[in-house]
Amino acid sequence: MPALVLLGAQWGDEGKGKATDLLGGSVDYVVRYQGGNNAGHTVVVGDQKYALHLLPSGILSPGCTPVIGNGVVVDPSVLLSELSGLNERGVDTSKLLISGNAHIITPYNVTVDKVTERFLGKRKIGTTGRGIGPTYADKINRVGIRVQDLYDESILTQKVEAALDVKNQMLTKLYNRRAIAVEQVVEELLGYAEKLAPYVSDTVLVLNEALEQDKVVLFEGGQGTLLDIDHGTYPFVTSSNPTAGGACTGAGVGPTKISRVIGILKAYTTRVGAGPFPTELLDEDGEALRRIGGERGVTTGRDRRCGWFDAVIARYATRVNGLTDFFLTKLDVLTGWEQIPVCVAYEIDGRRVEELPYSQSDFHHAKPVYEMLPGWSEDISKAKSFSDLPKNAQAYVKALEEMSGAPISAIGVGPGRDETIQINSFL
Ligand code: IMP
Repeated sequence: MPALVLLGAQWGDEGKGKATDLLGGSVDYVVRYQGGNNAGHTVVVGDQKYALHLLPSGILSPGCTPVIGNGVVVDPSVLLSELSGLNERGVDTSKLLISGNAHIITPYNVTVDKVTERFLGKRKIGTTGRGIGPTYADKINRVGIRVQDLYDESILTQKVEAALDVKNQMLTKLYNRRAIAVEQVVEELLGYAEKLAPYVSDTVLVLNEALEQDKVVLFEGGQGTLLDIDHGTYPFVTSSNPTAGGACTGAGVGPTKISRVIGILKAYTTRVGAGPFPTELLDEDGEALRRIGGERGVTTGRDRRCGWFDAVIARYATRVNGLTDFFLTKLDVLTGWEQIPVCVAYEIDGRRVEELPYSQSDFHHAKPVYEMLPGWSEDISKAKSFSDLPKNAQAYVKALEEMSGAPISAIGVGPGRDETIQINSFL
C-alpha cells in the first residue's frame, strides 16, 4: 500500500515537477489534491520542456494514471487547452480522471479575484489572478459549482443564479462593474460538459481500490507549506491546504493509508507575491540567485523573491507535515559562492527564537540569524552519487539535514530528469 505525499516545504516552486517526474516511472497514479491552475510545474523530459499548471505531472509518464482529486479547483478552459497542447505534442492524455466533486473556477470567480486584489490596493495578496480564492470561498459558502453539475442543466442554472445573486450586487454596487448574466455563464459551462465527460469519475473509489490492490499512489501538492491556508503565513497564503493532511481530504483517502511524506526543499528560498520573508535578499546575491536559478514564475511570469536557506522554515515543514524525507533541489545554483549563509534561528525584538513564531506580527519582525557554511566552485551537475559531490557541498547538505529534522533522500543537481542523486529509495 505505498501511498506517498510529495509537497513543497517552503513557499512553493521548490521543483516538485522534477521530483514527481523522477518517481513517475514506478508510480501507478499521480493525484493532485488541492489548488488549481495557480500552480506551475516545469518538467524536462529528454530535450522537451513542459509547463503544467493544472494537470498532475504524471500525465507525462505513459504507465501512470493522472488524477484531479475532489480538493482541486478546475478551470475547464485551462484544462482543455492544457490537454490539447499536450496532444499536439504527441502526449496521450486519455487516462486522466477528474473527480465529479472537484469545484469549477467560473468566469465570475476570476473576475472577483482580480477586482478584489485591485480593491485591496497596498494590502493586496499578490494572487495569481486565476480565481482560486473566490472559488474556494464559494465552496465553503456552499454556493460553488462542481464538475458533476455540468451534467444537469437545471441544477447548474439554479446554482449559478444563487452564486451570482450576491456577486452581482457586489460587482455593480461596490466595484462599479457590469453585472454578469446567468445565461451566459451557464452556456459557457455547458459547452465544456461533453469534452470533459470521458474523464469524470468517482476518483475516491478508484484510488481506494488501487491502494487495496497495492498500487503505488503519489499525491502531488501544489504551492507549499508556508502558503497553506491554516499553517502558512496567513493572510499571504493560497486558499487551500498544500500540507500533508490536505492529501486526505482532497483525495478522499484516510491518513492511515499514507506511508511516506516527502518535502521538496530548495537549497535556498524563494517566494512569489506579498508577505513576510525573513531571509529575502534585496542585493546582488538575491539577483544572482534569481538569474542562476531561473527564478521566474511558470504561471505568472513574475520574478520570484530570493533569499538564503531558512532552517526554521524547514523544521516547521517537517513538523506540520510529518515529513519522512526531503528532496533537496537546485543545489547546483549555489555553486560559486565562497561562503553560504544559512538561517538557523530568528532574532525577534531582541530575543533569539528557534521555531517559527505563531504570531503574525512576530514573524513580520523576524530577522535571520545566520551561520556561514563554506561554499564550493566545482561543477556538480554530473554528480551521480553523494560521494561525487565536493566535500563542502556534502557538508552543506549534511548541515541542512541536521537542522531540518528529516533525512535528505534525493538531491537535484540540474534541471534534467537524470540530474538527480538518489540517496534513499522513496518506495
Ligand atoms: P492564489 O493561490 O492565486 O490565491 O495566490 C495566493 C498566494 O499564493 C500568492 O502569493 C501567490 O503568488 C502564491 N502562489 C499561488 N500559487 C503558487 C505556486 O504555485 N507557487 C508559488 N506561489 C504561489
